[in-house]
Amino acid sequence: MFEKSTYENRRKALKNKGLNGIAVFPGNIDSPMNYTDNTYHFRQDSSFLYFFGLDIQGLAGVIDFDSGEDFLFGNDFDIADIIWMGPQVPLKENAKKVGVEKCSAFSKLFELVSETIKQGRKVHYLPPYRGENKIMLEKLLGIPIKLLKENASVQLIKAVVDIRSIKEPGEIAEIEKACATGYQMHVTAMKMAQPGVWEQKIAGTIEGIALAGGGMTAFPIILSQNGETLHNHDHSKILKEGNLMVTDAGAESLLHYASDFTRTVPVGGKFTQKQREIYEIVLAANNHGTALTKPGVAYLSVHLAVAEIIAGGLKDLGLMKGDVKEAVRNGAHALFFPHGLGHMMGLDVHDMEDLGQIYVGYDDEIRPVDQFGTAYLRLGRKLQPGFVITNEPGIYFIPALIDKWKNESINADFINFDKVNEYRNFGGIRLEDDILVTETGSRLLGERVPINPDEIEKIVKG
Ligand code: GLY
Ligand code: MN
Repeated sequence: MFEKSTYENRRKALKNKGLNGIAVFPGNIDSPMNYTDNTYHFRQDSSFLYFFGLDIQGLAGVIDFDSGEDFLFGNDFDIADIIWMGPQVPLKENAKKVGVEKCSAFSKLFELVSETIKQGRKVHYLPPYRGENKIMLEKLLGIPIKLLKENASVQLIKAVVDIRSIKEPGEIAEIEKACATGYQMHVTAMKMAQPGVWEQKIAGTIEGIALAGGGMTAFPIILSQNGETLHNHDHSKILKEGNLMVTDAGAESLLHYASDFTRTVPVGGKFTQKQREIYEIVLAANNHGTALTKPGVAYLSVHLAVAEIIAGGLKDLGLMKGDVKEAVRNGAHALFFPHGLGHMMGLDVHDMEDLGQIYVGYDDEIRPVDQFGTAYLRLGRKLQPGFVITNEPGIYFIPALIDKWKNESINADFINFDKVNEYRNFGGIRLEDDILVTETGSRLLGERVPINPDEIEKIVKG
């Protein structure tokens, strides 16, 4: 974990946000896979981890904004736990590591909260996403599970988003460790992209690299020759010469910070002309996205500028037509690029998505756009130094979407459907890098995973 002062300073920053009452941060608990004692790999809640640092199940942290006190609740281990799990650090000692003096048994959390409610003070909490914590919060607060989300504290959400959005130097160092593991995962996948290899073998091998790096993957690996399916977790096919393989994968560092890269390679190591032409457009889009990324720029405008690069490139190839800016204004690019340019990244690969995308990615000035494609943009607001974001343009040929648009004449003024039809078995290409917004511009995080098409061909060919 980080130094004790890191957690103390983060809680202090939260206390300076003008809230009253208390905030409850439930940590996660072990989640059974098929029976109680056979659990999924434990993943702590990210906001708990951020403010209370302890990567241990069954805890809850409380910050009292009125008195300035911090509390930790959890149960000490008994002899049976020690027999099965080995010697354990007492709760009090763990609490000290993160600068919390007051700690008690978990049941005391219920007393503290009911006392706070009786005093007429506010109890803030973040939107829960795990069943176990929803049940616990229902009991703790007397709010029915189905109303927990809408009763979560917007004031607390906004304060936490404000603080977690700006990454500290220590956090950036952690993300760069995750990037280093991500680099190894991707170069390994490239080398394995040979005809006859089972996709799952590659996915499993690179997942192993993440685990061997000390963390888990930052999200379930996306790896497929059907890269037109944006989040394709089906790795059941055998690689075929000439197909494109999309790999979207990243690791968590030991302290649970994420990386998230996507690369697309030709199986066997030779792009066809058609593939290379589309690849070059996506690469230009990616480079343009990075070049435009700097403080004060709305990521929505970067997304739209990148969409223009994509539409312009596709127009040059005869797939789109008409005025490029008008095509993008009408959302015509979204036939090929039906997702957002990127998202915040940190302790979560889609950082703080549990708190609500509207608070993380948008603000009073930049509101979400209700148009197919751009509506999926997770981050639209103005960039600030310290933001860590992804830049992940793509071009996809999704047969069902092509047919729908053609049959319904959607954006027919901007699409050459006959030409598009020639690409219906193309698959997809996505290229994703992770970026830190700096005081003056931006920089890529980690060593850039090979992206130049000649270099990619060389690596795949070995
Ligand atoms: N890497 C998966 C995603 O960004 O959605
Ligand atoms: Mn991503």
